[in-house]
Amino acid sequence: MTEPMPRFPAGFYWGVSTASYQIEGAVAEDGRGPSIWDTFCRRPGAIADGATGDVATDSYHRWREDVALLAGLGATGYRFSFAWPRVQPDGRGAANRAGLDYYDRLTDALLAAGVTPVPTLYHWDLPQPLEDEGGWMNRATAERFADYAAIVAGRLADRIGLWITLNEPFIVTALGYAFGLHAPGRRLMVDALPTAHHQLLGHGLATAALRAAGARQVMITNHYTPVWPSSESPADQAAARAYDNLHNRLFTDPVLLGRYPDLSAYGLGGDETGGLACVRDGDLAVISAPLDGLGANYYAPTAVAAPAEPPLPFRLEPITGYPVTAFGWPVVPQGLSETLQMLAERYGYGAALPPVYITESGCSNVDAVAADGTVDDQFRIDYVDAHLRALHDAMSAGADVRGYFLWTLADNFEWNQGFSQRFGLVYVDHATQARTPKKSYEWYRGVIAQQRA
Ligand code: FCB
Repeated sequence: MTEPMPRFPAGFYWGVSTASYQIEGAVAEDGRGPSIWDTFCRRPGAIADGATGDVATDSYHRWREDVALLAGLGATGYRFSFAWPRVQPDGRGAANRAGLDYYDRLTDALLAAGVTPVPTLYHWDLPQPLEDEGGWMNRATAERFADYAAIVAGRLADRIGLWITLNEPFIVTALGYAFGLHAPGRRLMVDALPTAHHQLLGHGLATAALRAAGARQVMITNHYTPVWPSSESPADQAAARAYDNLHNRLFTDPVLLGRYPDLSAYGLGGDETGGLACVRDGDLAVISAPLDGLGANYYAPTAVAAPAEPPLPFRLEPITGYPVTAFGWPVVPQGLSETLQMLAERYGYGAALPPVYITESGCSNVDAVAADGTVDDQFRIDYVDAHLRALHDAMSAGADVRGYFLWTLADNFEWNQGFSQRFGLVYVDHATQARTPKKSYEWYRGVIAQQRA
């Protein structure tokens, strides 16, 4: 008999999270332009199962069904993202009315269902024409991003209270531009670092544009990981610090403290610009404009050791001794409390740290529909249950957390894993698009109902 779920504060957001390219499909409909993911998916070998997001979960057409699933769950928040190439097919210029209309309808349907929309402006689907001009390596992309933010907020700020600028800029820089595992598939290694600054500048310029258009609350979502040195050796400790600076601090220190972390392990200088030549006077002031929240995505800790050989000052190690998800990620619920403690220690609630929202947390699992039509994903239930308890512990210890958005509503296109990883509360038959709520959907519905009672 498990203990009842402890009580979270009234008004805490109980949500789920999705992203446009992973669910919408309809990539060439109603004037949508191509994104870097459309291009990347066509590169041989880029996606594990050769899939694309051309159809995804067809949410562009089935959004009513998805809103009904959210309503059935009793969710009080829905984090989704706008596809920039749906709003501006070329990444610049006038808005594509049909694209905006889609998000307008979705927003109204969510509000009518009692679900607060919490959208992200950029969850990785950069318009391809902007990539052709250098993408996030190009400073001008930051300005284009602010123009796009102004267009979306101009249409929706009257109904949307809480906005997220970027999703996980670290993943974009690391997997997209340094290692080539995500779109746009560039392998620039350390030379990818300007994409960090240009995304952060884009965040800052977009924050100003959102506020000018009447957006009430703005935040950024980062990917966080507790960094565990593989041993006590000074070399492993130094490698862990170098990795931590890159993964956790690079996209947070400039936003909350107005300065870059120490990037000397990457051969760069140590002043407030991090030694990044692309930082111009005034940029850090734009980037560090006050925010109303910090979005934190947490999946697992990272073990780090000293590298056998450069060029990188770290080596990622497997974590053993924990259960793993279908993805092979270790299940470490205390890592969520550790993450929140790290943020509190570094930035301080009431000082630099605004309220935190857990904008993603969840796991992939090998799910299947049984003969009786049910999907028994007890693994996911245990995973989320343990993470919610770890979250509650952190909040009892002082963490100011305002919501939990589970990744994700329904099985979808999992980036370079294609359809091979299932993260949803709802099972999707990718051939028919039939949606079957899993056991975890019923379970999460029960948690939300109990908490809202
Ligand atoms: C995060 C992404 C999200 C999803 C999960 C599993 O890094 O933001 O889109 O793919 O991982």
